[in-house]
Amino acid sequence: MSRAAVLAGIGGWLPPRVVTNEDLARRFDTSDEWIRSRTGIGQRHVVDQGTSTGDLAFEAGARALKSAGVDEVDAVVVATTTPDHLSPATAPQVADRLGLGGRAAFDVAAVCTGFLYGLATATGLIASGTADSVLLIGAESFTTIVDPADRSTSAIFGDGAGAFVLRAGEPDELGAIGPFDLGSDGSLAELLMIPAGGSRQRSSGRPAAPGEEYFLMQGKQVYRHAVLRMTESAQRVLAKAGHGTDRIDRFVGHQANLRILDAVADRLGVPPERRISNIDRVGNTAAASIPLALADAAAAGELSPGDRVLASAFGGGLTWGSCLLRWPDITPA
Ligand code: COA
Repeated sequence: MSRAAVLAGIGGWLPPRVVTNEDLARRFDTSDEWIRSRTGIGQRHVVDQGTSTGDLAFEAGARALKSAGVDEVDAVVVATTTPDHLSPATAPQVADRLGLGGRAAFDVAAVCTGFLYGLATATGLIASGTADSVLLIGAESFTTIVDPADRSTSAIFGDGAGAFVLRAGEPDELGAIGPFDLGSDGSLAELLMIPAGGSRQRSSGRPAAPGEEYFLMQGKQVYRHAVLRMTESAQRVLAKAGHGTDRIDRFVGHQANLRILDAVADRLGVPPERRISNIDRVGNTAAASIPLALADAAAAGELSPGDRVLASAFGGGLTWGSCLLRWPDITPA
């Protein structure tokens, strides 16, 4: 029988500071009613000055290791849009702080699809025998790249981190991850982009224009592509598994926007009681959103061992992806 990656532990961490919709309405022309009705978001957690993605990743990673009851893994993967530095990657320092110095450590960049790309990568490391265990962390201090004057992105994004510990196991045991569907369309990169700061702008000899260092989003088009791509990707992964949504106990979509999540779930035929969402309390935490939503649901008793979980995500790139997993008997830390 082939080797599978099996979920052995889960943890999440949110920075303590909360910014409510009312707080945003004091900064610019918006309202709690506008934000809630368009996005389903009521508040988001925001890093304090001086706190970085690596700090959040460390907290979530430590909790996932505790949940798995281990203090050793062979590799640390951090999925993030907001690394501590352009170079080096964030994962080696996180690994070092967790007492995992010497292990393989690298970042995965697929924006809001980052956790599922990281999960596929970690699964591959285990399936190939390169690693027997992996700590995968999705972490973002996304508010550090949001233009504080942009009411559309300020309303949506928040900070946080969520992590999985994966170990080698059998494909038919609880916790087994897969199959996956992953895809991208780079021709639409400009729909979600930070125009300045990378080699494209630096090599041009042109200084960054005001605002180009921030994450720019073409909201309407993003909305349309998110619904289409997440739905199609979820359908493809179900086809790979050879069953329909009737066998799915829980659907967790990337927490982009509640209307997007509902539109995808409606198209897939997943009834409301099987949908997992914490977007009202945390907003869109990009690469952290799926593990954070699962950690919250597990802590609230909304996931039972044996549940068939469908996860689907969409993000900048454009990128998208989906995967299936059987929920194991674990307790989040
Ligand atoms: N409060 C009040 N008005 C706002 C606002 C806010 N927080 N954010 C945007 N608006 C305004 C816009 O400025 C625009 O005003 P204008 O007509 O005077 O220019 C108006 O609302 C309509 O903007 P539009 O973008 O057409 O609104 P929308 O109905 O599409 O809703 C989003 C905006 C951002 C909520 C919506 O496009 C969306 O959710 N998109 C997907 C975002 C997402 O999921 N991103 C992450 C992907 S991983």
